[in-house]
Amino acid sequence: MNRAFDQKLKAELDSLRSAGTYKTLRHLTTPMAAEVNMEEAGETIVLSSNNYLGLADNPRVVAAGIEGLRKYGAGTASVRFICGTFDIHRQLENKIATFLGMENSLTYVSCWNANEGLIPTLAVAGTAIVSDELNHASIIDGCRLAQAQRLRYKHSDMADLEAKLAALPADMVKFIISDGVFSMEGDLAKLPEIAALARRYNGVTIVDDSHGTGVMGASGRGTIEHYNMSGQIDIITGTLGKALGGAAGGFVAGSNNLIDTLIQKSRTQLFSNALPPTVACSALAAIEELEAHPELLAKQRDNVRYFREQLAALGYKPLPGESAIIPIIVGETAFAIKMSELLLRQGIFVTGFGFPVVPEGSARIRVQMSAALEREHLDKALAAFEKVGTELGLLPVKAG
Ligand SMILES: Cc1ncc(COP(=O)(O)O)c(C=O)c1O
Repeated sequence: MNRAFDQKLKAELDSLRSAGTYKTLRHLTTPMAAEVNMEEAGETIVLSSNNYLGLADNPRVVAAGIEGLRKYGAGTASVRFICGTFDIHRQLENKIATFLGMENSLTYVSCWNANEGLIPTLAVAGTAIVSDELNHASIIDGCRLAQAQRLRYKHSDMADLEAKLAALPADMVKFIISDGVFSMEGDLAKLPEIAALARRYNGVTIVDDSHGTGVMGASGRGTIEHYNMSGQIDIITGTLGKALGGAAGGFVAGSNNLIDTLIQKSRTQLFSNALPPTVACSALAAIEELEAHPELLAKQRDNVRYFREQLAALGYKPLPGESAIIPIIVGETAFAIKMSELLLRQGIFVTGFGFPVVPEGSARIRVQMSAALEREHLDKALAAFEKVGTELGLLPVKAG
């Protein structure tokens, strides 16, 4: 390594350390679950995973992956159009499409790759993208690669979205892109209004429902189901790395013509290997588990309700919302990181997020509720939130 350049990297890392904003990787020695063993902290309750339905260590999901490895080996050692694709990919893609009420779907190794493969392929020169300012980084990077005119609207501000759309030529194709559930705020996109504006202004709607798929809606089909809007959003992207098994993988769902276009042109599809077949098998089993066990959703929602109620009783004021994400704004980045470290010392794993993930001054502790968590886990976590919150001056000291 070039020594001078390496020293420059070290200096940057040192400045993160002295600002208290340095991120530390924690090492787990057991599967993701309500409780894990962490090398750095021992037995720990997890409140920071997207394992919303608790399927990451589900025996059927694990067995399906093992069976997949036996049946298909590790992979094709190439991209799909060169070396073929496994029948399990087609099966999974059909399942995702049916699950979401779309004509077809296409998997990628991650939702990051799905967004980056989708957006520049569609949003060519002569079109426009109008994107919510709080969209996920993978959407932002996907937009940066596109040749289209790029506009951002204020977060969930429908008047601003309409103003941006109205200022563009009437016959221009306009891609309106939004997260379904916003990952740092936990709030839902205003999909009914977005779809209505799309109809009025020649828009094509793209919703990344990574935090909604498997969680929102009567049967976990996502934010679109939550609003009873099946068939009214043009394109859905999502991840298999959260509620639906938690390993990795992403998808685009839409019309047959859209999926065929992506197979022909999407660069992260054409120049990158397929989702590992083991993961495809596990993800398929995860969707089947969700369909077979609606009680998982009910438990996850009950946990959200209970944890929100009890946080409020302690004196916390999390951002309001209906999703699995419960953000507690605490101020500066270093403060959020310190709070998460103190909570970890109490055996609670929950991450503090600060700049540049969220704007300076609005750093937060992001709690995520899983169906894997039992009432005793939640009560232990709440006791830790009370202790740490009092120590840090976020909560008033109790009299007596
Ligand atoms: C809205 C959104 N899109 C995309 C992603 C990326 O998903 P993946 O891990 O499958 O790349 C995430 C993950 O945090 C997300 O929250």
